[in-house]
Amino acid sequence: MLKKIFKWVFISIGSLLILTVIFYAVVYFSTQSRINKTYNVILQKLAIPTDSTSYLAGRHIAENRGCLGCHGKDLASGLVFINDSTPLGFLAAANITGGKGGIQYKDEDWIRALRHGLNKQNKSVWFMPSHEVAHLSNTELTQLISYLKQQPAVDKTTPPHYLKPMGRILTFFNKFPLLPAEMIDHNAKYEENITMSVSAKYGAYLSTTCQGCHNTNLKGAPAHSPVEPNIPDISSTGNPGKWSKDQFFTVLHSGKTPDGRQLTDAMPYKEFTYNNVELESIYLYLQQLK
Ligand code: HEC
Ligand code: HEC
Repeated sequence: MLKKIFKWVFISIGSLLILTVIFYAVVYFSTQSRINKTYNVILQKLAIPTDSTSYLAGRHIAENRGCLGCHGKDLASGLVFINDSTPLGFLAAANITGGKGGIQYKDEDWIRALRHGLNKQNKSVWFMPSHEVAHLSNTELTQLISYLKQQPAVDKTTPPHYLKPMGRILTFFNKFPLLPAEMIDHNAKYEENITMSVSAKYGAYLSTTCQGCHNTNLKGAPAHSPVEPNIPDISSTGNPGKWSKDQFFTVLHSGKTPDGRQLTDAMPYKEFTYNNVELESIYLYLQQLK
């Protein structure tokens, strides 16, 4: 009798172990093949301007598209998104200057990274939100690149990215947006120019930058970490739906809400330098998001 029980316990544990090994093998090979996928894209040829107006416009775009927020004001001291001490792996925003440990980019490499989410090996970059900027008009994209190219080289090496088993499992179940190239339509055509006057359409164009945190539908998401607040709904069904335009402006400028709260730095309002036309457009867009 006892012998029989032992036999069954042994068989159960054995099967469970084998299933676990098979499951992880599937996770590993599936994520590895997605990570190593090389894309074959046709890069649009765009001339990058060098005049000071384009440079300043490019800086404005870099501030409001979060480039400086994630990669640092010097574009070399990027945030660490996944810390070694977590069960996920390691990932930091790259040094994107021409210095040691940075990137040696030609114009076409910038277009590949920003329009397609691909590095020079034509593989997806990790977690870099190219899917939120791929749609920039040709004019804005070239202005942005003009600014980026002219930044001073900084020598700074970040350790290479890697995933631990838990990071792979989350990627496998698409719980972590690791590979932006998978989220981009590589055959899409983009506008030459965007009309920069107050409209909900212009607001929609701008607010893709809010989606990484506030969710694709802008209806909020869980906190990014235990020390950060939950990310609120900013559509018309959230607080902004009750705010006047002026109140919305105050929140985006100072982090002070009409109900007397002070937003934390988890909301990067201090980094944003939107002008009034841009802010009003975002406001209009959010108000019509049901
Ligand atoms: C949410 C944070 C975040 C934002 C916002 C962001 N990046 Fe990144 N970026 C990253 C991370 C993380 C990497 C590292 C990717 C990797 O390791 O594959 C990266 C990598 C890059 C690379 C290097 C790609 C390569 O060849 O390996 C470039 C270029 C780049 N970013 C440009 C930009 C620009 C320009 C902007 C603004 C439009 C921007 N990034 C906004 C997080 C961000
Ligand atoms: C890096 C992540 C991040 C990005 C990008 C981001 N937000 Fe936020 N936002 C937050 C967090 C976190 C909060 C909550 C802050 C708090 O409660 O202290 C917040 C709060 C807000 C609030 C206050 C809502 C309320 O109910 O009090 C508004 C409005 C807002 N964000 C608008 C925007 C807009 C518009 C954009 C894009 C232009 C944007 N956010 C981009 C993280 C982000």
